[in-house]
Amino acid sequence: MTGIPKVELHLHLEGAAPPAFIRGLAQEKGVNLDGVFNEDGTYRFEDFVGFLRTYEAATAVLTGPEEFRRLTEAVLEQSAAEGVIYTEAFISPNFCGGGDLGAWKEYVAAMKEAADAAERDSGIIMRGVVTCIRHEGPDAAKPDALCAAETMGDFVTGWGMGGDESVGTQGDYAYSFDMAREAGLRLTTHAGEWGGAASVWQAVRDLRVERIGHGVQCIEDPALVGHLAEHGIVLEVCPGSNVALGVFPEWSKHPIETLRGKGVRVTVSTDDPPFFHTTLRREYDMLADTFGWDEEVVRAVNIDAAKAAFCDDATREKLLKKLEPQDA
Ligand code: ADE
Ligand code: ZN
Repeated sequence: MTGIPKVELHLHLEGAAPPAFIRGLAQEKGVNLDGVFNEDGTYRFEDFVGFLRTYEAATAVLTGPEEFRRLTEAVLEQSAAEGVIYTEAFISPNFCGGGDLGAWKEYVAAMKEAADAAERDSGIIMRGVVTCIRHEGPDAAKPDALCAAETMGDFVTGWGMGGDESVGTQGDYAYSFDMAREAGLRLTTHAGEWGGAASVWQAVRDLRVERIGHGVQCIEDPALVGHLAEHGIVLEVCPGSNVALGVFPEWSKHPIETLRGKGVRVTVSTDDPPFFHTTLRREYDMLADTFGWDEEVVRAVNIDAAKAAFCDDATREKLLKKLEPQDA
C-alpha cells in the first residue's frame, strides 16, 4: 500500500515547512521565534486561531524569493520521500511580496526553479494554487487574484482561498474568484472545515468552484452530499488535520468513508503536515487502520485525485500511467 504513488491536492507550502528549516532560517537572520515551538521542537498551538497565529509567525522568517526557493526544495524533497508523485501547493502573495505584482513574479520564478529541479531529480511534479487569505478580507483578495492571473501558466494553474472561515461569507470573495476564472485558472476554496454545510453551498453556488478544501461538514446535509456526488465536485479531505485541530474528535468519527460510500469524490491530503504530526503515508496508514482501506481503494482515490488535478492533460496522463498497477 505504501508503495502506491500518491497525488496530493491540498498542501500549504508554508504549512509544510519542517520546524528545523524555520528554526535554521530564524537563527541565520537573528529572528526571535518565542512561542512558536514546543520544547520538543514541534510547532506550538492550542486551537485553530492559535494555529493560524503560529503559522503566520513562523512564515514571517521567509522574507525573500531565495527563502521560498529553499522552502520549496525542502518541502518537495520531503514529499517525494513519502511517495508523492504530484503535489499542488497553496502559495500566497500575502507571504510573497504582500500583493505587489513585481515582487510576486520573482517569488514565483524562485519557487518554479526549485520545482523544476525537484522534478528533474526525483520526478515529483508541483503546481501552484494561488490563495487569498480569508481573514485579510475581500479587498486584499483582489491584488492576490491579479497576481494569480498575471502568472498563470505551466506552474501557476489554480486559485483558491484559505484562512479563517468564520470571517464573512464565501460570496464576499466572488469578485476575485470571477477574475481568476476569467483568466483561466481552476478554482477551489476552503469550505466546510469550520463553517457548516451552508459554507459549502455558498462555495458551490457563489464561487462556482470545482473542488472544495475539506468540505467535510457537508455531512450535516444529505441534499448537499447528493449534490456533490451528482456534480462530481471533489473534496480535498485532510483527515489528520481535522483530527489534530479538533474538527472531529477521533479518526473513527471522521466522515471520509461515509462520504466515499455515498459517491462523493474524496481525495486525501495533509494540509500542513508538520503542524499536525502527519505525512501522506501516515494518512493512508490511518485510513487503512480505521476504515480498512486496501490497495484497491488507495489506488482508486489517487486516480481520482489525478483526474481532479489542476494540470494539463499530458501531465495527467503521466500521473495516471504511474498509478497503473506495476504488474498490469
Ligand atoms: N491555512 C493553512 N492551513 C489551513 C487550514 N487548515 N484551514 C484554513 N486555512 C489554512
Ligand atoms: Zn488547508
